[in-house]
Amino acid sequence: MRIRVLGTAAGGGLPQWNCGCAECTAARRGGEARSQDCLAVSGDGRAWYLVNASPDLRTQLLAAPELAPAPGTRDTPLRGVLLTSGELDHTLGLLTLREASGFTVHATAPVRHALHHAFPVGPLLAAYTGADWHTVTPGKPVDLEGGLRAEAFALGGKRPRYAAHLPDRLPEHLPDHLPDHGDWVTGYRFTEDGTGACAVYAPGLADWTPAMDAAVAGADVVLLDGTFATAGELADRTGGARRSPGMGHLAVHDSLPHLALRPGPCYLYTHLNNTNPLARRTPPEVLAAGAEVAREGELIELP
Ligand code: MLT
Ligand code: MN
Ligand code: ZN
Repeated sequence: MRIRVLGTAAGGGLPQWNCGCAECTAARRGGEARSQDCLAVSGDGRAWYLVNASPDLRTQLLAAPELAPAPGTRDTPLRGVLLTSGELDHTLGLLTLREASGFTVHATAPVRHALHHAFPVGPLLAAYTGADWHTVTPGKPVDLEGGLRAEAFALGGKRPRYAAHLPDRLPEHLPDHLPDHGDWVTGYRFTEDGTGACAVYAPGLADWTPAMDAAVAGADVVLLDGTFATAGELADRTGGARRSPGMGHLAVHDSLPHLALRPGPCYLYTHLNNTNPLARRTPPEVLAAGAEVAREGELIELP
């Protein structure tokens, strides 16, 4: 299995265009940037899948040599996209894929519904390319090309702000009616048939749940929510009242004890907000828990 970490920042990226905080200023000065959260994963190194489609997707794709088209063709190794949420930092890049001759999109029922109504990227894309939509059900594995299997696991019911008005349950006569479960946010556990290599991706971890426990058991690598270093970080920096748990993000400080109890996988924090000092410096307590901060653009090869 190969994983290209295309982007490691939360929505807005680092630096964020309208932010003059210490981290954004340092990132501007040092030329150090993090683009918005996105992964590419492949079982055989030939068929590739994106996990999330960030607003920075075009430059992320251009920087990944394995995602280049075959010479003289428009034959891309990109087969599809799996979404962990319907948030804009995970879905705006779908429009960037409109030049494709076709691709699959895998999303849970509420996310799929939101992307056809509240933010109608589905119907918009249909005018340009053949996107083939599949409904993801947590706990039900999907076989992808190249010997890769993806199993979603539920991580919570936090909806994107643009979808706040959608009803919990839509009339049954609608073809894509919304079941009244809250699978707005999921993680994925990827396994490769041949080698048994296993990777977990959970950029929106609201809480350390039994589903997360089951997902990380036996995994080689776990890319997890590193949005905020501490629960009060955003409030401290912006003077606002929003704390990270209410935003659907378990702070690094609060997930570290869970990692220490579950040694084995290589833990990499990703989806770093621009207020997060870990974007620049990894503190010793993170390293002591067997974790690191994901590096922008890094390639992970398993086993
Ligand atoms: C999130 O990760 O919580 C969302 O992407 C927030 C946002 O960008 O609106
Ligand atoms: Mn986000
Ligand atoms: Zn900033």
